[in-house]
Amino acid sequence: MNLLKATTLEERRFVNRILLGIGTPSKTVYSPSEDSFLMLHALSNIELNDLTVCDIGTGTGILGLFCAIKGADVTVTDVDEIALHETLTAAQRLGIVVKPILSDVFAQVTGRFDLALFNPPYLPSEVVLDRAVDGGPDGLVLTRRFLRELPTRLKKNGHGLLLLSSLNNPAKVISEYDKFSFEVLATRQVFFEELQVLDLRLR
Ligand SMILES: C[S@@+](CC[C@H](N)C(=O)[O-])C[C@H]1O[C@@H](n2cnc3c(N)ncnc32)[C@H](O)[C@@H]1O
Repeated sequence: MNLLKATTLEERRFVNRILLGIGTPSKTVYSPSEDSFLMLHALSNIELNDLTVCDIGTGTGILGLFCAIKGADVTVTDVDEIALHETLTAAQRLGIVVKPILSDVFAQVTGRFDLALFNPPYLPSEVVLDRAVDGGPDGLVLTRRFLRELPTRLKKNGHGLLLLSSLNNPAKVISEYDKFSFEVLATRQVFFEELQVLDLRLR
């Protein structure tokens, strides 16, 4: 886990506690991976206490659970009911509360948030065989939906954290969404791709 290189001992203890709460995910649920840990690394530099956070595509819940332990009021969404069930079980084990919503991106979510998170399925794939990782032809089908819907889901001064891979041509994505300013918060080379966490703010 490269997180170990980049964070303080306290953050590592935090994340290990969350991983213990999560246990072994079901086969269909995305196991926390390099992209998840890079998102956590970016989150660890944000003051989360008292923020309202929406974690889209929560999987095991790792990002939302992290925010909830840090004092945020957290909504978690996924299209996978098992993922939401396992996130709730982990939250109970950890003694924290998150609000689960079965939702296709923001479709069933109401309200606005201080912070919206998305570590999307981003692998370019002609057909979506595994919805945890396959992101359609350019890997960006769900990312584009997130970017289109985000402006109406953020409170004033709210922002988004989005993971992109070099496989997704981040420079092109950024040039297409000029409503936002994008700041790279964290990067990591993983085998054949570079992962980036982008911070998005409305101009
Ligand atoms: C790469 S995984 C990330 C999981 C977790 N957030 C993490 O960082 O480890 C992508 C997640 O998006 C979910 N997902 C796929 N399609 C979705 C959709 N249309 N709306 C919401 N979530 C979706 C998947 O079920 C999966 O849990």
